[in-house]
Parts: sequence; C-alpha cells; structure tokens
Amino acid sequence: MPRVALATSREVPGLLDDEGLLLRDRLRARGLDAGPAVWDDPEVAWDAVDLVLVRSTWDYALRRTAFLAWADEVAGRTRLYNPPAVLAWTTDKHYLLELADAGLPVVPSAIVEPGGDPDGHPFRAVEHVVKPCVSAGSKDTLRCGADETARSAGHVRRLLDAGRPVLVQPYLPAVDEVGETAVVAFDGVASHAVRKGALLTRGAGLVDGLFAAEDITARDPSPAETDVAARVLDHVTAHLGAAPLYARVDLLPGADGPLVLEVELAEPSLFLGHAEGAADRLAAAVAQRLR
Ligand SMILES: Nc1ncnc2c1ncn2[C@@H]1O[C@H](COP(=O)(O)OP(=O)(O)O)[C@@H](O)[C@H]1O
Ligand SMILES: [Mg+2]
Repeated sequence: MPRVALATSREVPGLLDDEGLLLRDRLRARGLDAGPAVWDDPEVAWDAVDLVLVRSTWDYALRRTAFLAWADEVAGRTRLYNPPAVLAWTTDKHYLLELADAGLPVVPSAIVEPGGDPDGHPFRAVEHVVKPCVSAGSKDTLRCGADETARSAGHVRRLLDAGRPVLVQPYLPAVDEVGETAVVAFDGVASHAVRKGALLTRGAGLVDGLFAAEDITARDPSPAETDVAARVLDHVTAHLGAAPLYARVDLLPGADGPLVLEVELAEPSLFLGHAEGAADRLAAAVAQRLR
C-alpha cells in the first residue's frame, strides 16, 4: 500500500483538524496509507514514504531557510508536493510585485527592505496594512489608520530590525462588507471557493498563537474572480513549469474588480469541509501522482 505523509508542524502533530482528518480518510479510501509527519522531526524516514504532501507546516515563517532546505532534502528522496521551487516562490510575498509586473490585478503593494526608511512607502497617508513578506496566519500583520504614523513606522522598524522585508498595502475597506474570496484549485483546475470574513479590526494588536481565527462560509466566486484566479494559476504554471498540485488564490474586492492578496501554494487551509467532494478531488490528484 503506497504511503503518503501529510507534513505538519510540532504544534499540530496529529493533524487533528477537521480538514486533515477529512483528507486522510479520503486518501485511505483510495487505498493509500496516509498519516501525519512533523516536518522537522529528525526521526521521520522520508525515503520510506512514497509521497509527501505539505499540509500544516504553519511554523515555517520564522524558519523559512530551514523549511526550504528540508524541502530540497525530501524532494531528493521522494515525491514532494508542492515541489521546492514552488514552496520557495509562494512563501515570500515579493511575488506580488512579479504578478503586478505581469499585468495581473494585485492589491497595491510596496516593499520596504531591511536598511530602508520605515516611513518610505506611498501608503502612509491612508489607512494601510503592514505585514512581513514572509508570513502566515495573519501573524505580525497590523492595520494602521492614516493618523497612526508612529504606530505604523514602529512596527515596520521592528520587522526590519529582525531582518524581515516588509510589505505595505492600503487597507481595502470593501473587505469589511464583502469579505475575501479564496479560490481553491487542484492541478490548476478550480475546485471550490469560500468567503473569508475580514480579519483585521481597526486599532487591534497582533495575532497571538499560530494563526488568526477565521470566519468561513461557502461562496460561488463571481465570473471576474474566477477569471483572475485562472490567470494567476496560468502565470504560476508557466513560471514554475507545472500546475501546482494544490493552490489557493485569495482575492480582495477592489474598486474595479478583484485584486490578488495572496497565492498560497505551501500550507494553505483548503477549506475541504466547505464543498462537496473537495477532499476527494484532492485525494484523486494525489493518487494520480502515484500512478
Ligand atoms: N490590504 C489589505 N486590506 C484589507 N485587509 C487585509 C489587507 N491585507 C491583509 N488583510 C487582512 O489580513 C489577513 C491576512 O493577510 P494576508 O496577506 O492574507 O497574510 P497571511 O499570509 O498572513 O495570510 C487577510 O486575510 C485580510 O483579512
Ligand atoms: Mg492570508
């Protein structure tokens, strides 16, 4: 029976969230011996596994170099999805500038590099969001009012001092009403979508723990959202050489249509419990790679 390891983090060693269990069970139903494995556990024999699926390695953000080195190592021993080059691309939001250069509609974004001026970005006079380029689960993400220059610059400086490039974007207020749309695709084909409620409360501090609690409901994406997600996936596929096994494209409502907030190809929540058949479609894509 082929073995599939669902790579997870020490904080969730048993992968015991609904989504992890659902996927494990659908993989087992397809005759695959699926179970969790902690990515940085030195005891795991990766070469004894037929396929490793990166699932809930949410703790990579402060150890990205170690995480990518692990991915390279494992990919040399067995099949790893998504592959190391994809993991490297998606875990650093510098890719947003690349997508914008390619003509895709992206949330307006400016990056301040370490050594740069914490106030030296174009969004200081409007309500804006400050976040590290390497981030997950809304950690270290701060919403700042136009009048909160000191708070904003202080947070940018703290991140820069820790050697972390910083992404600054205007706060897109339509998210408060409309929410964010996450489009999930397997092998480049859209599977389902959800609505995610706004996460950043005005005046609130930083997220504690691994990730922010999310308010999720099923959603049919609009034609414009479907179109932007497909164009993003086409770009990623052309740029990285193959369609990712799984992908999540997060979109925020802009004044003239959907704008790309994030392209999650490493450890996304795939909201498998929110759409009929979604977990089985992913299990089928995994089984296909083992054929
Ligand atoms: N520019 C923005 N405008 C409005 N909300 C934002 C913006 N940037 C981030 N957010 C909110 O913060 C959350 C986390 O930001 P995101 O860019 O997705 O980072 P992460 O990689 O940590 O998930 C989003 O789901 C959204 O609710
Ligand atoms: Mg996000």
